[in-house]
Amino acid sequence: MSTSEVRPIPLGMALTPMNPAYQADPYTLLDAVREGGRVHYDEFFHRYVVSRFDDVEAILHDRSLAVDPRKAAPDTFNAIFRNRAREDREPSMLFLDPPDHTRLRALVQKAFTPRAVERMAPRIAEIAGELLDAVDGQESFDLMAVFAAPLPTIVIAEMLGIDPADRADFKRWSDTGVAAGFDPFASEETKRAAEASGAELEAYLRRAIAERRAAPGDDLITGMIQAEEAGDFLNDDEILSMISLLLAAGNVTTTDLIGNGVLLLLQHPEQYRLLLDHPERIANAVEEMLRVAAPVTFSGRITVEDREIAGCPMHAGQSITVSLAGAAYDPAANADPHRFDVTRAEPKHLAFGGGRRYCLGAPLARLEAVIGIERLVARFPNLQLAEQDLVYKRVPGFRGLERLIVEA
Ligand code: HEM
Repeated sequence: MSTSEVRPIPLGMALTPMNPAYQADPYTLLDAVREGGRVHYDEFFHRYVVSRFDDVEAILHDRSLAVDPRKAAPDTFNAIFRNRAREDREPSMLFLDPPDHTRLRALVQKAFTPRAVERMAPRIAEIAGELLDAVDGQESFDLMAVFAAPLPTIVIAEMLGIDPADRADFKRWSDTGVAAGFDPFASEETKRAAEASGAELEAYLRRAIAERRAAPGDDLITGMIQAEEAGDFLNDDEILSMISLLLAAGNVTTTDLIGNGVLLLLQHPEQYRLLLDHPERIANAVEEMLRVAAPVTFSGRITVEDREIAGCPMHAGQSITVSLAGAAYDPAANADPHRFDVTRAEPKHLAFGGGRRYCLGAPLARLEAVIGIERLVARFPNLQLAEQDLVYKRVPGFRGLERLIVEA
């Protein structure tokens, strides 16, 4: 590029799935944002955008920043796109600050430690095996529909202790019920369907909570009922909100990690072969997938006092959007960042956020992707991409495929 050429910095709608260029390749646009400066003010969405790795990491770890949208100035991004949860419902911890966040997180944390989650490994392998059995013999199938989407939903349903007979209803309610939650562009029809499903899911879960109170089981709902932190327990509304959060934050994201990860392997057949020959590399491969094709592309924080962030003075109540996808392509963090290499030594990414809000479900998501993708590759050694025209979902802040048609 000659020095006289100035690349425009894409902001506003240009950094959303409404922009076809962003849908096709967000990373090149995010390169321009990152190279253009440490901080940009996005006048369309009223937010500061930060995308250099070190700055994003520092902001995620900064304990003096908030997330509760009620602390954002009224006309700024976090206040405009505040959680669409119903006003009568307890806000989930995703949108709460300490001390509420600390209390709620401590009460569920134990169920999600790597050790606790590791106990699920044999079941995850069985479920993955059953889903793959179901497409055995088929020449082509949609990997999202038959594998990437059902796997995390079935796993969390089992962890919660949902009766297998109710699994299909549970999946339908949770898929539709959370679809509109994070999408400011959701149509009225989607929103109505989400509300109806959400209400059915809520009624079902309230019954399940009451049943476990009467007859405790060995499942996550019982765990939440019994969880105690300094004499404090979760009430029914909080348990309900927590379960909704686990479904909203965990299912689609894990589905997208599997979908985006498999797509990368199909686009790089030599890497597919490498994993086939060296299945022990799968954990590293999943980290590289999280780096190259993060399912959650943005996170956010709010300033609560006048101060400087990433070298830029800001007033209290301002929204900061950190680009998780952009940070992972920062050449200062990862050499040759656009190259997908499952053997990359220590891929650096912030796909699970950071600090005290670091993704609660990260150990579970990693385990499902590791086991799921390893099984898939072993079972289908010659899997190929059958449809080159890729369609991504249009939810801002997330990146995942609508479908992934493959040939066995
Ligand atoms: C690949 C899959 C996943 C990705 C990419 C992902 C990503 C993230 C990100 C970026 C955050 C925000 C962190 C921050 O702002 O610092 C987050 C928070 C969270 N995630 Fe995940 N997540 C995934 C899977 C899951 C799963 C499976 C669950 C649970 C079953 C889950 C539950 C949560 C919860 C509860 C929070 C809020 C934590 C808090 O506020 O303290 N996530 N996740």
